[in-house]
Amino acid sequence: MAVRQARLLLFFSILIFQYSSIVAADTGSAVRAFTPLRFSVEPCDVLAVRGLPAVLNCSVAGAEAVLARVEWRKDGTFLNLAADERRRLLPGGSLLISTVVHSKHNRPDEGVYQCTATLDSLGSISSRTARLTVAGQ
Ligand SMILES: *[C@@H]1O[C@H](CO)[C@@H](O)[C@H](O)[C@H]1NC(C)=O
Repeated sequence: MAVRQARLLLFFSILIFQYSSIVAADTGSAVRAFTPLRFSVEPCDVLAVRGLPAVLNCSVAGAEAVLARVEWRKDGTFLNLAADERRRLLPGGSLLISTVVHSKHNRPDEGVYQCTATLDSLGSISSRTARLTVAGQ
């Protein structure tokens, strides 16, 4: 009887072990499915000129790249580009500032920018940060 119980216990242990290996392998493939998203271009520090356009470059590559949503943060806050007349997203993911604004009391463009790419329900990646400085303060 004891031998039979021991065999049964061994059988279930093996079953549970195999099941947890399968679960672990599944989790691994979910991670692999996401890693193909990466930045092929990340923004660099830029010296802009008041009254002229400026571009911060960003481009996403990888198998899932076409599905990625690109957004920009300035000084840590997401820019609402839909409601922005001077800034817009270029087709590849770069940020265009059509006319750099810079006066003594209004300096909306100077700051630290960061590009993020999001795949809904999977996660997002963030680029390096880049500083935009306006020449000839
Ligand atoms: C952005 O990309 C364009 C086209 O590849 C390049 O000409 C330009 O120098 C880049 N600008 C910056 C600030 O990296």
